[in-house]
Amino acid sequence: MWGKRDDMVVHGSDPYNAEPARHALAGHHVTAIDIFYSRNHGPVPEIDPVTWRVRVDGLLTRPLCLGLDDLEREYEHHTITATLQCAGNRRADFNLVRDIPGEDLWGPGATSTATWTGARLADVLRSAGLDDEARHIDFGAPDVTKLAHPPQAYGSSIPVGKAISDEVLVAWQMNGQDLPAVHGGPLRVVVPGYIGARSVKWLDRVTASRQPSENFFQATAYRLLPVEGTPGPGAGISLGPVALNSAILVPDDGATIPAGDTDVRGYAYAGDRGITRVDVSLNQGRTWVQAQLDDQADRWTWRLWRTRLHLPEGEATISVRAWDTSAATQPASPQQVWNPKGYVNSSWAHATVTVSGH
Ligand code: MTE
Repeated sequence: MWGKRDDMVVHGSDPYNAEPARHALAGHHVTAIDIFYSRNHGPVPEIDPVTWRVRVDGLLTRPLCLGLDDLEREYEHHTITATLQCAGNRRADFNLVRDIPGEDLWGPGATSTATWTGARLADVLRSAGLDDEARHIDFGAPDVTKLAHPPQAYGSSIPVGKAISDEVLVAWQMNGQDLPAVHGGPLRVVVPGYIGARSVKWLDRVTASRQPSENFFQATAYRLLPVEGTPGPGAGISLGPVALNSAILVPDDGATIPAGDTDVRGYAYAGDRGITRVDVSLNQGRTWVQAQLDDQADRWTWRLWRTRLHLPEGEATISVRAWDTSAATQPASPQQVWNPKGYVNSSWAHATVTVSGH
């Protein structure tokens, strides 16, 4: 489906929601499109790239209506490698604490990295004469979803300071190809360092405004509620910058592996902060060894890590925690960060394996 590999973990086909198997994600700085996770709240719209237009309006002096060819012709092209991470990444581990009804139970694969090519949103806003009064940049799309209350097209916004940063793109290419439909083709926003929900796909409107978007996916969803909270417009913390996170991709959770030295690999990601250290434990965090960090491919990408551990016969649980440039680390248990919608599970990740004798 949607050109994805058969070994994707599919959470739903309509709307299409799928993540790569852990081993598929492991070891690649840039994720191949056929395994890149995809998160959709509604149907993937059918769009003719030739007639597609994006409207730029709101608090600016020169409203614009741009086709793909206008964007490609009139603005400087930029390519950036950036990780996208859904706020629901690793939600499955929250369900061990308390059920999260009505939400997909994503594993650690609701995150992937691509090279994105497009124009800087900053350049588009500058050419439209962005007003000093603007505080938020609001994005619109045509995919109407019944999962929103009331049903509505997807939308979201980011603060103007982020919107005019060098890293935010309106992108028409992914890994050097035309942006595939399921990833927002012909045009999407890419907001590196922010939760994936802000990288609006099938972009048809950019509005400069004083307030954040009133769209359901900004005002009600993608907000971190207190444990006993209920979703409602303005309730909870609006999610933007991603939290520190990490996961084990190899060996797979639940795998049977031979006793002896085994490769352990995964990713760590801290958005606009860097990863400074990754620790791995075989005894639930009483002692740790440091994993080796691969070079980071780009400022806005995850950091891959690896180590070798000696595993004796029996059952073993491998745990991981990462540290970022602010010396923050991850909370030990999902209980510490559990929330009713199951966003931002930043707790230590584990893989439990059966180690067989020779
Ligand atoms: N944009 C639109 N128009 N509709 C959507 O459902 N999902 C968002 C974001 N942009 C969404 C959207 C969410 S929650 C995420 S995590 C990312 O797209 C996923 O992007 P991908 O499918 O390319 O991986």
